[in-house]
Amino acid sequence: MRINVRPATPPDHNGVGSGVRTAGPYASPMATSKTDPLPTGEEKVTAVREMFDTIAPRYDLVNRVMTFRMDVGWRKKTIADLGLPAGSTVLDLAAGTGDLCRMLQEARLRPVGIDMSYGMLAAAATTAPLVQGDALRLPVPDGSVDGVTCGFALRNFRELGGFFDELARVVRPAGRIALLEVAEPRNPVLRFGHGIYFGRVVPLIGGLLSDRAAYQYLPKSVAYLPEPDEMLSMLADADFESVERRLLSAGISQLVTATRR
Ligand SMILES: C[S@@+](CC[C@H](N)C(=O)[O-])C[C@H]1O[C@@H](n2cnc3c(N)ncnc32)[C@H](O)[C@@H]1O
Repeated sequence: MRINVRPATPPDHNGVGSGVRTAGPYASPMATSKTDPLPTGEEKVTAVREMFDTIAPRYDLVNRVMTFRMDVGWRKKTIADLGLPAGSTVLDLAAGTGDLCRMLQEARLRPVGIDMSYGMLAAAATTAPLVQGDALRLPVPDGSVDGVTCGFALRNFRELGGFFDELARVVRPAGRIALLEVAEPRNPVLRFGHGIYFGRVVPLIGGLLSDRAAYQYLPKSVAYLPEPDEMLSMLADADFESVERRLLSAGISQLVTATRR
């Protein structure tokens, strides 16, 4: 493992002290009780970073168990639909423990991983360069990358509009983005089963393997996402074209791709 970490802020290993928690590929900041509102703004940023620092060591294990390894296939699809040729430079934003970076390298692309959690980067198993930083304020020049991938992090950002504007700034014209995120199935029966699984089973598994509270409010975290049409419009407004959204695995996951105008 080689880590080129540039700490933007000192790592905080004091655990979660802000009353909100996040976790997993299905994770976002969560309130500690069902009635607590989800955090926003800087409170959300701090909660996200602290929580991922805390759960980093068992993050990959919990992912694989909770998704029955479907997350591996979703990431493969993300890279395939990015559709860039070998040798392209790709920023993997919110890179976490480096799964997408590793797979981008296997596909002969040239990834650089960026994540704001020092703990996640320190737990990463990839030889790609890794940088600690904020996906909404990227330390790269305008139009300097061929593409961007981002796995399971849209819900974790302070705000999506600013993130999409930053993508438009750094991706060169005709460059590509592929954004993977969780979703709720549209079919009412599947939606009901999905709600039971992620509302009840996932917190149990998360509690056994990692941190129950961190995985307890998964259904709530989806509330951070705008309606699909709104999200696609936001990308078009940010100067992307060919904006597409595909549902994966019966709609429990979604992949949004677009081309920089
Ligand atoms: C659910 S994990 C996903 C990790 C990885 N992409 C994957 O597919 O497993 C979400 C990641 O987003 C990161 N993150 C959240 N907000 C961020 C931001 N503003 N800038 C960079 N990383 C951020 C967290 O630190 C965490 O590692």
